[in-house]
Amino acid sequence: MIESVINGRDPEVLSTMLAFYKRPDGEIYDVTANTKRMWKGIPHGKIVFSDIDREMLPEIQCDFMALPFKSGTGGLIIFDPPHLPDAAGSEHSLKPFVGRYGLDKTTREDSISSIFVPFLTEASRVLKKDGLIFVKLSDYVHNHRYQWILVEFINAVWSIDGLTPTDLIIKCDPSAGNLKSGKWVLSHHVRKAHCWWIIVRKGKCESSLTRMGENRCQN
Ligand SMILES: C[S@@+](CC[C@H](N)C(=O)[O-])C[C@H]1O[C@@H](n2cnc3c(N)ncnc32)[C@H](O)[C@@H]1O
Repeated sequence: MIESVINGRDPEVLSTMLAFYKRPDGEIYDVTANTKRMWKGIPHGKIVFSDIDREMLPEIQCDFMALPFKSGTGGLIIFDPPHLPDAAGSEHSLKPFVGRYGLDKTTREDSISSIFVPFLTEASRVLKKDGLIFVKLSDYVHNHRYQWILVEFINAVWSIDGLTPTDLIIKCDPSAGNLKSGKWVLSHHVRKAHCWWIIVRKGKCESSLTRMGENRCQN
């Protein structure tokens, strides 16, 4: 049983996705590992954890735009980039989030969207046929403009030959990004109450691994 809106935290969403989406056997690469918060409590086999930040002590220190992995080896890539550009705040205001979210490792522009095509090109090279990318993204407002990061990402996927955006899950965090705390006197957007989990396949929208009729409704 899967819902397209999940009221829960990342480990809940991730374990639901791991169980639901068929993928080929192959390596699992988490290319933005940080402290592996999203894997908390999820029983899993071998995962290759990488990150650009050596202070996070990743198994492999590398840039997700130049992955050191062999072509055609991946069954699944997890991508959870910093959700704000470096330019989104002052050095002082960003400081608490630097280590936790890698905010000093991201773009200087108004949007993080320039990382998408280089990352997706690498991901496509590394994945096997039918391999998947699970991507976590949040929208944000910067420079008095709502940055439609989901739209930018889907357009980037369409621009890479052979990759298909296949599905979307909306995660609503129980704490709703503090919107429920009463701290906000004036709020213009509910963007902090949800984030996107996007599923991208190297191949067609539906997996060729699915047997005919397997996903059909029984009644
Ligand atoms: C939002 S955090 C990931 C949190 C992680 N998924 C977890 O569960 O703990 C984003 C991570 O992306 C890393 N990062 C930023 N730019 C990167 C790049 N170009 N290549 C690889 N990692 C990068 C940051 O160092 C940071 O650790």
